[in-house]
Amino acid sequence: MKIAIIGLGYVGQSIAQVALGAGHSVVGFDTNSDVISSLNLTGDFKATTGAALIGDAEVFVIAVPTPLDGARKPDLTSVHAACKTIIENTKKPVLVINESTSYPGTLRNEIAAVIEKASGLGHLYASSPERVDPGNEKWTQKNTPRLLAGLTSEATALARKFYSSFCDEIIEVSSPEVAEAAKLFENTFRQVNIALVNEFVQISDALDIPTREVLDAAATKPFGFMSFQPGPGVGGHCIPVDPSYLAYVAENVGVPAEFIKRANEVNLCMPAYVVSRVAKDVGSLEGKKVVVVGVSYKANVSDTREAPSALVIDELEKQGAAVSWHDPVVGTWNGQSSNELKGFDIAIVVTKHDAVSESAIKASAAYVFDCTGTIKGVAGI
Ligand SMILES: NC(=O)c1ccc[n+]([C@@H]2O[C@H](COP(=O)([O-])OP(=O)(O)OC[C@H]3O[C@@H](n4cnc5c(N)ncnc54)[C@H](O)[C@@H]3O)[C@@H](O)[C@H]2O)c1
Repeated sequence: MKIAIIGLGYVGQSIAQVALGAGHSVVGFDTNSDVISSLNLTGDFKATTGAALIGDAEVFVIAVPTPLDGARKPDLTSVHAACKTIIENTKKPVLVINESTSYPGTLRNEIAAVIEKASGLGHLYASSPERVDPGNEKWTQKNTPRLLAGLTSEATALARKFYSSFCDEIIEVSSPEVAEAAKLFENTFRQVNIALVNEFVQISDALDIPTREVLDAAATKPFGFMSFQPGPGVGGHCIPVDPSYLAYVAENVGVPAEFIKRANEVNLCMPAYVVSRVAKDVGSLEGKKVVVVGVSYKANVSDTREAPSALVIDELEKQGAAVSWHDPVVGTWNGQSSNELKGFDIAIVVTKHDAVSESAIKASAAYVFDCTGTIKGVAGI
């Protein structure tokens, strides 16, 4: 099949790779020329900032960002821009698939209705929310089951043909709204469970009971329990963002979504909690040399979007600490380079990459506070 991918970020590149592997011809389109020039292109994979090259495609996959705006409401600017690209560059009916995460109704009302109003070509439309987990070697595009629903059975059948060329299990649901809502619910489930365990850390510490031992003990129950680990907050652009898409549509239909909002607040308070725990152990942080170890939002990836490390640093600076950061996986962040890991009073481990050894962390400071639960014999949550 001739595939055009709109948006060549993490998701778009991942789809391009598996689609190429399955023998499709792939053209990627991205508005950012730096993204295009950083790609490793082959004869079968073309990428461009000039949308005219995608006009020949039979299947268009939308994989553009769906962030929150300044008021923490869904921002579908890039989705609408992708629709415009499709309108301007298709002359015959194609299949349009949306993989970008958004609220139920997005495929039907924000994509299909908008494109058809302008072009009237009678395209097919399907939704298949992306589930890829960056850095996860066990769960890949091949073995992670994929949700799928078209606006028509013809759209579903063609989308199934595309995805089954590289994914082992396609799960058809009854409407695009079900697929869209399932994706939001999956990430909201993670967000509220992480918030719960983050609240539990605060309870168990106040009771002077070792949290991780309690969690490990609870996890021995073979049914009705699922393990989540506490941390300094949530990061990346899925867990901190997607639940707000669900809260937004909930409020539009008169359901207040208090639980989702509360979970967000608990997670956002964790950086201040971490710093308060450090201050409880060491006293005033005024003038203390502190290193934050690991600034990306998860281990072994360089993505710093929405990472709680920035909030931990803000909180430390508010308390007068002299703050540096160390992260060889990220390298450069906010125009600064990763600092050498030595000579500090305090090290706070926010993210533990394999590339940073436990012994180097322990040698870097007189006091170490670990937010990851992976470093033995130091303070932490
Ligand atoms: N990264 C993940 O782990 C992940 C997992 C599941 C779902 N998602 C969802 O998938 C979508 C894409 O995420 P991502 O991580 O690939 O984002 P990203 O920011 O890494 O990449 C998006 C790309 O789209 C480009 N872009 C923006 N507007 C465009 C336009 N109008 N036309 C063409 N290109 C445009 C950007 O330049 C960027 O390169 C989002 O909705 C996200 O929530 C992401």
